[in-house]
Amino acid sequence: MKFDTPATTNPIDQLKVVGQPVDRIDGPLKTTGTAPYAYERHAAAPDAAYGYVVGATIAKGRILGIDQRAAEAAPGVLAIVTAKNAGKLGKGEKNIARLLAGPNVEHYHQAVALVVAETFEQARSAAQLLQVRYESAEGKFDLAKAREAGAKTIDKDQKVGDFASGYAAAQVQHDQTYSTPDQSHAMMEPHATTAAWRGERLTLWTSSQMVDWAVSDLAKTLGIPKERVHLMSPYIGGGFGGKLFLRADALLAALGARLAQRPVKVALQRPLMANNTVHRPATIQRIRLGAKASGELTAIAHESWSGNLPGGDPEEATQQTQFLYAGAHRLTGTRLAVLDLPEGNSMRAPGEAPGMMALEIAMDEMAERLKMDPIEFRVINDTQVDPAKPERRFSTRRLVECLRTGAERFGWAERSAQPASRREGNAWIGIGMAAAFRNNLVMKSGARVLLDGRGSVTVQTDMTDIGTGSYTIIAQTAAEMMGVPLERVKVELGDSSFPVSAGSGGQWGANSSTAGVYAACVKLREAVVQRAGLPADAEFADGMVRAGGKSLSLAEIAGDKGFSVADSIEFGDLDKRYQQSTFGAHFVEVAVDAYTAEVRVRRMLAVCAAGRILNPKSARSQVLGAMTMGVGGALMEHLEVDKRRGFFVNHDLAGYEVPVHADIPHLEVMFLDETDPVSSPMKAKGVGELGLCGVGAAVANAIYNATGVRVRDYPITLDKLI
Ligand code: MOS
Repeated sequence: MKFDTPATTNPIDQLKVVGQPVDRIDGPLKTTGTAPYAYERHAAAPDAAYGYVVGATIAKGRILGIDQRAAEAAPGVLAIVTAKNAGKLGKGEKNIARLLAGPNVEHYHQAVALVVAETFEQARSAAQLLQVRYESAEGKFDLAKAREAGAKTIDKDQKVGDFASGYAAAQVQHDQTYSTPDQSHAMMEPHATTAAWRGERLTLWTSSQMVDWAVSDLAKTLGIPKERVHLMSPYIGGGFGGKLFLRADALLAALGARLAQRPVKVALQRPLMANNTVHRPATIQRIRLGAKASGELTAIAHESWSGNLPGGDPEEATQQTQFLYAGAHRLTGTRLAVLDLPEGNSMRAPGEAPGMMALEIAMDEMAERLKMDPIEFRVINDTQVDPAKPERRFSTRRLVECLRTGAERFGWAERSAQPASRREGNAWIGIGMAAAFRNNLVMKSGARVLLDGRGSVTVQTDMTDIGTGSYTIIAQTAAEMMGVPLERVKVELGDSSFPVSAGSGGQWGANSSTAGVYAACVKLREAVVQRAGLPADAEFADGMVRAGGKSLSLAEIAGDKGFSVADSIEFGDLDKRYQQSTFGAHFVEVAVDAYTAEVRVRRMLAVCAAGRILNPKSARSQVLGAMTMGVGGALMEHLEVDKRRGFFVNHDLAGYEVPVHADIPHLEVMFLDETDPVSSPMKAKGVGELGLCGVGAAVANAIYNATGVRVRDYPITLDKLI
């Protein structure tokens, strides 16, 4: 099905099942520990051996040799994979650095070997006996220095009007530089794979957000046809973008299984993950704002510097600045410096998450210069059209309503504009806010739907559920479309033998994958009425199909054998006419200890306008998780770079801090009642990343309101406040 005109009324609009806050259907499996994750495929691969990954201890250079005699002789060792015996390896499209080093080393903890043994402990113990000799080369690890030395401009700067003269003429100006650190996805389940060969066919149980990308890149790397790879990723313990692409666990498990002639399981050790896989690159962002004394923005410039390995991309931290506020004269641009740190790539809301951390502080600072309320300042600079192309309207844009609704709900009117003016005991109290913005992406997505002789529906798609609720919203979609109760729908996900879906990334998963299921169900409905000899407008409800006094059950129509159809949704060029984005507002109250500068978040509110909310319960959970991550980004998360040796020092969950329950107070989430007919027949958009964008700045703005100390360098740790 091609989607190229705005959606009209369709069966989803009944909202009998879609839009209901139903419990996650995979919830009991997960909470009872019975959902089999990639490392737990004991039944499918009972004879699996264990692989242990050895990471490079230099950031850049060459492997001179590996003495593996002692490791080979160690108890239980079955095989040792290195670049020497791995065969000729190709390279996937999505990885920048190779997943197995040799002879060149491109970054610290790049895998240099996999030791396979009968038990995990034997593999780990033998791995310590490998003697790897390196020749180190000079590397570049310091973003600030690289920026001074001159970084490359990536793509062309987006220019509207004439920023330089617009800024020079502005009555009020603001020019500041902000920085965000490298961040680690730090998801709960590590990257993990169980791999087994049967002849020339490879089966993997892995933890991947994008099944088809993983299959393609694995086949390319191994140099085998894609058809010989069967990959399953039905349960995923979090990803946040760190599992968008094939990683070393999957490749090395496949190579280890081939060499050991046994199924092999590999989980990246936690201390390896930060440097072996990807991270969100640090940014330095310069923002210049020019406004009339009335508060109307006239000039906006946002430039962002980030680093990556050769061939990598910059963090697109200026994305939102092209769309969020009006202003005649504009300049946005990303600059890339080559660094030899591990590969930078997508982490939850890549671009906007760090971009909003800077822009939404700058907006507050400008409001203060203008002596305006920060919300009023944002409201008067709202735009309903793409500022660069005024003929392109936003499909929906209710930023102002989010701001106003949140202000009312949070009690914004009680805030004192004067910083450090509210004290309770030893604590300075402040409240702050920020707008939320994240673009809405759509991706082609397919599904197969089967109707069986009992009138039950099964949906099969390679879509993944990374803890987001995909199983549930897909079941809701099929139930609504086919007129059956939720219990009569079975959803099977994350299997490369199923139709290719949008996968989970860029907050496009919910809308795109359910739209694919919608498309398949439209086809199934057509097949059903045709078989039953009913008109096309027959009603599907209560497991029955009815038209003109005739009523047949789905079970009868399916017959004993049942049948299936498949289709996909393909998105046309509606985005030429409409800008699709999601909007919101974040509100935060903090208490800052007057003596220790310890920051405690006291309450938070997010108001989101993100199209139809397919399941308010799972969507709320997504936003709660995002707000929590935002607090981490504001106050804790920071991969510390060793600038001499080129690696992230705090590479485990003891050193890389994320919020725990004690850090998170009462959180409230509100959704505006909205449908977006431009986004898909579901009229939904993404919300899981929107919930993060702006949180950091809202915390920073609350801290400023509490203390009068303005920190522009994340995370806002107490040393920066004293
Ligand atoms: Mo998201 S960073 O595209 O999983």
